[in-house]
Amino acid sequence: MRRLLPEPADDITVDQAYASALGLRTDRPWVGLCMVASIDGSTVVSGNSAGLSSPTDSAVLSRLRALADVIVVGAGTVRDEGYGPPRKPGQRIGVVTRSGRVDLSQPLFTSGAGFLITTDDSTFDTNGVEAIRAGTGAVDFAIALARLRGLVPACEVVQAEGGAVLNGALLDADVIDEINLTTSPAAVGGSGPRLASGAGDHLHRFELAQLAIDERSFLYARWLRQRG
Ligand SMILES: NC(=O)c1ccc[n+]([C@@H]2O[C@H](COP(=O)([O-])OP(=O)(O)OC[C@H]3O[C@@H](n4cnc5c(N)ncnc54)[C@H](OP(=O)(O)O)[C@@H]3O)[C@@H](O)[C@H]2O)c1
Repeated sequence: MRRLLPEPADDITVDQAYASALGLRTDRPWVGLCMVASIDGSTVVSGNSAGLSSPTDSAVLSRLRALADVIVVGAGTVRDEGYGPPRKPGQRIGVVTRSGRVDLSQPLFTSGAGFLITTDDSTFDTNGVEAIRAGTGAVDFAIALARLRGLVPACEVVQAEGGAVLNGALLDADVIDEINLTTSPAAVGGSGPRLASGAGDHLHRFELAQLAIDERSFLYARWLRQRG
């Protein structure tokens, strides 16, 4: 890929472009969101994100996963795309659900890597799968993230992988510290969700920490949350 910002560089690898998370925090794990969207803002085409992606985009996702201690993903995405156990030893994957409509017999959970993030008042049977509970009616991510180190003590970096409903809840809690957004060079129309849905109105400002492009015109932006 070719880096356009901050310093132009003609030929950099994905590992160089994504050498580390853009920061760390002491009060709770750092949260990076990783998504791909079309030029016209859709995060799905024909029902999932695969058609928007590319080999380089997949490499970016893998690289960001490798930097994370915990991956957090919405139950809708797990139901639509399927999630297996992580490749990185010791990494945990938290599936966010209110309903409990998640197949707990899949390898993600039988491997011990998967856990649930749910509400204080959810009543479904977790079948012995570990769970973090936070919030009533909907998961409150400010609380859930503060409790995460109770389950994964050394957790420094969380990678959130969507989809839009989960992202909306993260936005509401203002816990997204960086957004790694691939813009797929396609306009897809349709009624697919944009990056976040269901959130209240916010004006959370970000600054562009890095912008890169590949030979197929996929754009790779790293956005850093500006606080204070
Ligand atoms: N373009 C991309 O990079 C990308 C990335 C990921 C996914 N996707 C696509 O996005 C689509 C899925 O997105 P989506 O927005 O429909 O689903 P989602 O965000 O993956 O999952 C939504 C579900 O997660 C649970 N959930 C989310 N926030 C919650 C909260 N605050 N409290 C309690 N539960 C919560 C609920 O599960 P329950 O229903 O179980 O209660 C909710 O129905 C799929 O088509 C997928 O392919 C695209």
